[in-house]
Amino acid sequence: MVDKIKTIYECKNCGAQFPKWSGRCLECGQWGTLNEDIQDLRKKAEGDILSRVISADIVDLENVSNFKAERFKSNISEIDRVLGGGLISGSLILLSGEPGAGKSTLLAQVADKIIKNNKKFSQVLYISGEESAGQLKLRLERLKCDLKSFKFIGETNLEKIISTAVKARPDFLIVDSIQTIYSTLIPGEAGGISQIRTIAIKFMELAKKYDIPVFLIGHITKDGQIAGPKSLEHIVDVVLYLENDGRGAYSILRSAKNRFGSVNEIGVLEMTGSGFEEVKNPSSIFLDSDLSHFFPGSTFSCVIEGNRPFLINVQALVSKTVFGYPQRKSSGFDLNRLQVLSAVISKKQKLDLMNQDIILNIVGGFRASDPALDLAVCLSIASSFLNKEILGKMVILGELGLGGELRPVSYLDMRLREAEKMGFSEVLLGDFLSQLEKNRLKENFKKLNFVFVKNLSEAIKIVFPNKENK
Ligand code: TYD
Ligand code: MG
Repeated sequence: MVDKIKTIYECKNCGAQFPKWSGRCLECGQWGTLNEDIQDLRKKAEGDILSRVISADIVDLENVSNFKAERFKSNISEIDRVLGGGLISGSLILLSGEPGAGKSTLLAQVADKIIKNNKKFSQVLYISGEESAGQLKLRLERLKCDLKSFKFIGETNLEKIISTAVKARPDFLIVDSIQTIYSTLIPGEAGGISQIRTIAIKFMELAKKYDIPVFLIGHITKDGQIAGPKSLEHIVDVVLYLENDGRGAYSILRSAKNRFGSVNEIGVLEMTGSGFEEVKNPSSIFLDSDLSHFFPGSTFSCVIEGNRPFLINVQALVSKTVFGYPQRKSSGFDLNRLQVLSAVISKKQKLDLMNQDIILNIVGGFRASDPALDLAVCLSIASSFLNKEILGKMVILGELGLGGELRPVSYLDMRLREAEKMGFSEVLLGDFLSQLEKNRLKENFKKLNFVFVKNLSEAIKIVFPNKENK
């Protein structure tokens, strides 16, 4: 085939290419971003490109010296754990969260603490396109950071930032935020997908080449609208999310990706007048403050997030559907799973939920994905439907199958230890253990009284002995 001149249209926002022009980019939905680009394919044929490139070096892995992952701790244990045991030099870390979640505050504190605790670090270069030097100083003073270790540039041009950073060689770089930075070499506005991708790659090069840890802050909106952090996740080493519980008091730091540690770790922090403080006993904040208040629809369970157990309070409200389809609403628990579980209850338990609205809530803004929560959710729903409370400080553990049968629970000992520590006295558990194992549990957890059940029907029979008289 003969090569010829070809016209394509490229979106300056997301970089997608189309054979025809249109007013709106079909990829990112932006209006008026398609630009004509003429590609002369004949140029390619001019010479054999392959003969002109310099080939890459091949490395013998046997002779490579071992990568030593030295970790630098901030001594805020909730943060160090999420980072996988501390910060690794030369890593590129993306911290995302909604505006106002406390991202700028958190990073200023982390940088300050790492500098105070590690001799290797002494200077932070804080790049902000959002705040002035005066505003940053005010915040750092409020956080009791050492002002001597912070340097500031109020710049949004990527090329200028990189050249300044290369000259200044800071031990730390904080970019607040990636959406405000732009590169003159790339078309499109600051914050567009192709812009922020290029910027992330440039910072990655900087981090690796000069061994400088770089923190990028990325804003996300509630509905995840803005082109942003999600499209960067494959580029960076570590992705952290800072979430707020909605009432403003507690924040949860999650790692969604970590090339140097385990993911799904969470850290619990509390925003105070002088920045974040770690929460020493996170289980206590996810429980209703007074455990002696029992009411229909409320149950307790213990979930594992990362490597840690959390005791949580599940609350359900079941009420008759007044209009239209029955509603299922959930906060902190997967809605699809709630629908599956309510179908299992309706089918197997003769508790007819087909004309009932169900609202489920995990107290304290916790988001749980642990399957061992199934049984507690089912019993919360049954409890609210029957209008009968579950008395006694009971922790409910069990994953449910579609037949209502109970499956084994992982990390059982860890969960039981936490329940015992938080003053619970009863455990409702699937009957999947051998007699030997049961004896061992009874021996090890003397303060706990175990109740073993085979399936959901048995569990309901035991906790609501005379459920008929509603
Ligand atoms: P900020 O770090 O500016 O959020 P982000 O960078 O994610 O947009 O701070 C968020 C909120 O935290 C802000 O509303 C003020 C509050 N805050 C405190 O309560 N205590 C403090 O010490 C600081 C610095 C901020
Ligand atoms: Mg900020």
